[in-house]
Amino acid sequence: MLDHIIRRASLIGADQVHDIGIADDRFVEISPRIEADAVEETNADGCLVVPPFVDAHFHLDAALSLGQPTLNQSGTLLEGIQIWAALKPSLNAAAIKERAMALLHWSIAQGTLIIRSHVDVTDPSLLAVEVLLEVKKEMSRWIDLQLVAFPQDGLLRCPDGRALLTRALDLGVEVIGGIPHYERTMAQGGESITWLCELAEKRGLLVDMHCDESDDPLSRHIEHLTAETSRLGLGGRVTASHLTSMHSMDNYYVSKLLPLMAESGIQAVCNPLINIHIQGRHDTYPKRRGLTRVPELLAAGINVAFGHDCVMDPWYPMGTHDMLEVAHMGAHCLQMMGAAQAEELLAMVTSRGAAVLNQQDYGIRKGNPADCVILQASDAMQAIRLRAARLQVFRRGRIIAHGRPRNSELHLGAAPIEIDFRR
Ligand code: FE2
Repeated sequence: MLDHIIRRASLIGADQVHDIGIADDRFVEISPRIEADAVEETNADGCLVVPPFVDAHFHLDAALSLGQPTLNQSGTLLEGIQIWAALKPSLNAAAIKERAMALLHWSIAQGTLIIRSHVDVTDPSLLAVEVLLEVKKEMSRWIDLQLVAFPQDGLLRCPDGRALLTRALDLGVEVIGGIPHYERTMAQGGESITWLCELAEKRGLLVDMHCDESDDPLSRHIEHLTAETSRLGLGGRVTASHLTSMHSMDNYYVSKLLPLMAESGIQAVCNPLINIHIQGRHDTYPKRRGLTRVPELLAAGINVAFGHDCVMDPWYPMGTHDMLEVAHMGAHCLQMMGAAQAEELLAMVTSRGAAVLNQQDYGIRKGNPADCVILQASDAMQAIRLRAARLQVFRRGRIIAHGRPRNSELHLGAAPIEIDFRR
């Protein structure tokens, strides 16, 4: 007797529906027909079942702080950093925790159960670090939160930046962050990269830096981060987030850069919602899109994932922590609309993100923890087109969120017309 069977699930890569058997919190059988009985059954009825969404890049400490103390009028990264700096001294533990918990409830409802969140470590009190470590522990039954020590005001630019970042790691933050393009000079940006990578090597930690988040075609921190990844043998452990300058770089230079990145084993994260909103702000027309070169990175064999980055904070006033919305924006801004590309987009908010976070046991496979999401869609393209309703979210074999189908009923004549946007 199994605990739960999900009947008639569509799965990416399978040409017929499958039953998914769950026992003791894990997937125990995935086959076209499971004959066993179960305590509980859910009929997916041909709907797509995917592993939980992964947000490979987020800022939980700032989420839902929109308007505190002011709104970002210019829409630029730098004004956002100034607003956040003005808010920091007045932050208190209760407020940070309340916002973080509210956001994580949204995440669960959206089926986003694995999140890498940067946390600002340039506040001398490290208050947000302490609160988010507590939130991570409290929410661990339902959601996996991986924290990155992020020196928002610059590792070298912030007084005591290095000591604060080290203290955050000692408190239990598990990934080393950075922001080389915000240091005072290109040389100091490079110096920060070397210091952070050597620290990662010494401590055996992962690295995820905000890297070249600008429209400057001559920003070259990715080159330095790639070289340090190779020199120190950190391949597979280092992620470069944003890489927006790559959008504007000279094509010849990028043709040299991509193979070096592939050779080093570095991974990349693109944040479509935020990049399309923040980049190109100093342009008149034409305005650059500013997203990094995702199809080219993938073609070069470099793992790329998507992040949501922000929800209602000093940088971005919108969002519901919906990773399908991120994939939807990516499809448009990156011109990835082909049927095969839809599966690639879905991978960037699921399995490719899990690889960035170095998650073991991820995916709908026998023996893995029974975490998955039933979508009101039958394939990847439909899931992204509709930003499909999350009908059930499973965590360790238990349904932890129920969503309502998104249908409509028209009253145009005598008989109501049922609208189902799937076709
Ligand atoms: Fe970020």
